[in-house]
Amino acid sequence: MPKTIPEFDTDPFSRESVMNARAVDDRLRELAPVVKLARENVTMLARYEHVAAGLKDWKSFSSTSRPWHDPNSVRPELLLTDDPPKHTRVRAVVANALSPRALSHMAEAFRRDARSIVHGVRSRDGRTIDAVADITQPFVYKVLPDLIGLPQQGREHMYAFGNMVWATMGPPNELFHEAMENTDAVAAWASQCCNRENLTPGSLGMAMYEAADRGEITPHEANLLVGILLSAAADTTVLTLANTIRAFCEFPDQYQLVRSDRALIRAAFEESLRWDSPSRMAGRVAMKDVEIDGYVISAGERCGLMFAAANRDPRRWEAPDRFDVRRNNRDNLGFGYGVHACVGRVLALLEAEALLGALADSIEHFESAGEPEPWMTTIGHGPSRLPVTAVFAAQ
Ligand code: HEM
Repeated sequence: MPKTIPEFDTDPFSRESVMNARAVDDRLRELAPVVKLARENVTMLARYEHVAAGLKDWKSFSSTSRPWHDPNSVRPELLLTDDPPKHTRVRAVVANALSPRALSHMAEAFRRDARSIVHGVRSRDGRTIDAVADITQPFVYKVLPDLIGLPQQGREHMYAFGNMVWATMGPPNELFHEAMENTDAVAAWASQCCNRENLTPGSLGMAMYEAADRGEITPHEANLLVGILLSAAADTTVLTLANTIRAFCEFPDQYQLVRSDRALIRAAFEESLRWDSPSRMAGRVAMKDVEIDGYVISAGERCGLMFAAANRDPRRWEAPDRFDVRRNNRDNLGFGYGVHACVGRVLALLEAEALLGALADSIEHFESAGEPEPWMTTIGHGPSRLPVTAVFAAQ
């Protein structure tokens, strides 16, 4: 006789829960290995062991549907919404364009842009800045569209577009409707960005169309992939970098370790992903009955596999709330796991090396200058505003 799946008494996607997402997700994880959101009719897994196993087992937990699935949303239906073998064919094109070899020529441009951003905040040495608006957002919102090959015009829509895309992953609640308000110009820009004639020759976006020219994907798939790159790569990176700076405020000794050994920069970024993941969950659909610790998830159930809660599961991580750049965090689920594991990881790490390296070169330490304000979106998670004081090292 299967055990009865307990219902969670809180809506994890309400305005109040989003303000307090860490605590809500942790409470859900501790309730039981399998938890039901009754109102949403969604089954949630939040313990590391089960989330990792579910992400790996794409035959049982398919990506072809998910909670609140709307095939007509602004989120392109390709790649993350496919299972192998279709997924494998399309992923090969993106993986090729985002390989270390394909991206190596960007490292110097990223470092230059990072130095320029850090130089820009030097005049406010010792005063309060917003690490999101003044550092992580201007950096990512410059290097990413440059890499994709987008025109300058319209880039001011990137934040609103990111907000729309996050919203499509969650329930159609109040926060969803707020994200979708007055977005005609944003949606029109995003759609224009994906057209071949608007992309710079030699860019990442153009590489998608070149793959179509070689017959590896269709021109329509190339168009969708440009949109996917734009939506998947921007705010995930902005938030992870911002959370890294927040961790440097809360764990100043860890920042000093990074300053004294730059080889720890990647580990610091990965630890930020583990410590406070910018994506709360992945949506999947159960393709068959799946038994977990005596609970049965029935075929057809829509499921949420919670990255963030799993990355703080005390069954897997010692002192999970401690930000520790020297812990072995390679298995963290912040970049996902299995066939859909983030294909942009190399790029995100290259950006992190450039920006965190430039910060470590110039800034002696960071101090918190107030409470972070959370981004009011349901599946994305992290600060929309992060007041900090950056104290520069003597030149
Ligand atoms: C720190 C930054 C990033 C984080 C935290 C992140 C996180 C993730 C996660 C959790 C997944 C798996 C989703 C799932 O299984 O449902 C994923 C997949 C994906 N990411 Fe990232 N990502 C980041 C940066 C990037 C960048 C820079 C790019 C592109 C250049 C990118 C492109 C993608 C794509 C295309 C997929 C889908 C892969 C597939 O379905 O095979 N991401 N990412």
